[in-house]
Amino acid sequence: MNSILNNRPALAREVNKVAEVAGYLWEKGWAERNGGNITVNITEYVDDEIRALPAISEVYQIGATLPYLKGCYFYCKGTNMRMRDLARWPMENGSIIRILDDCASYVIIADNPVKPTSELPSHLSVHNDLLSKGSPYRASVHTHPIELVAMSHNPKYLEKDVATKLLWSMIPETKAFCPRGLGIVPYTLPGSVELADATIRELEDYDVVMWEKHGVFAVDVDVMQAFDQIDVLNKSALIYIAAKNMGFEPEGMSDEQMKEMSVVFNLPK
Ligand code: 13P
Ligand code: ZN
Repeated sequence: MNSILNNRPALAREVNKVAEVAGYLWEKGWAERNGGNITVNITEYVDDEIRALPAISEVYQIGATLPYLKGCYFYCKGTNMRMRDLARWPMENGSIIRILDDCASYVIIADNPVKPTSELPSHLSVHNDLLSKGSPYRASVHTHPIELVAMSHNPKYLEKDVATKLLWSMIPETKAFCPRGLGIVPYTLPGSVELADATIRELEDYDVVMWEKHGVFAVDVDVMQAFDQIDVLNKSALIYIAAKNMGFEPEGMSDEQMKEMSVVFNLPK
């Protein structure tokens, strides 16, 4: 089949990583129906031939003007597409888009005219913000992890860093591999520019943010590492729940143990 991925192994590897992660999200039960979305900034893999490709869609508005995205290219999950389908057929359930010179609109260029995720305002605003700061992060993942979302239904865990401290203290690896913790975005309408703005603000201090009563949004250098950060946080939530189900409040690592670990692992907070 004719695909933009043919004879482009580096680009194909990035898209295949998205497919692999989409499979994990489904297996974990975090991706009911079309739940969740992934975008990856693939501009570094784009050659002159790709730049010359014609649009295969009409021009769509992003809803925001994002100057750092001029001429950038993204792989995006399609709106209403299922992660479990994307895991097998990434180019039938997602597409590659080109941001136009006005920095406020885009076209689809390959392989099929699959309209990108409804959360595109958040994803693209975040990518714009990352580029503006010279960040090496190129991937963003939004998913619906059951236990973390459940925690967001209790106002106690929505207070600044309460959930972060609890989750970090369940097992040493969580702080080591999610060193900036879990930020909180109060409930905001899915797909809105307001949600995008609130997400950017919170990503100043965190790599993973909770969208209250909805899901999480994570960024990292690639899709695999963004997934890993969510996975370690949710693992801690599961340990907490397992202890509660055994009938006790888990002790958690002590402040001394946390401090010692932070020094040895050279962690920022
Ligand atoms: P999309 O199918 O548009 O990506 O939406 C899924 C979702 O999780 C919205 O928050
Ligand atoms: Zn969602």
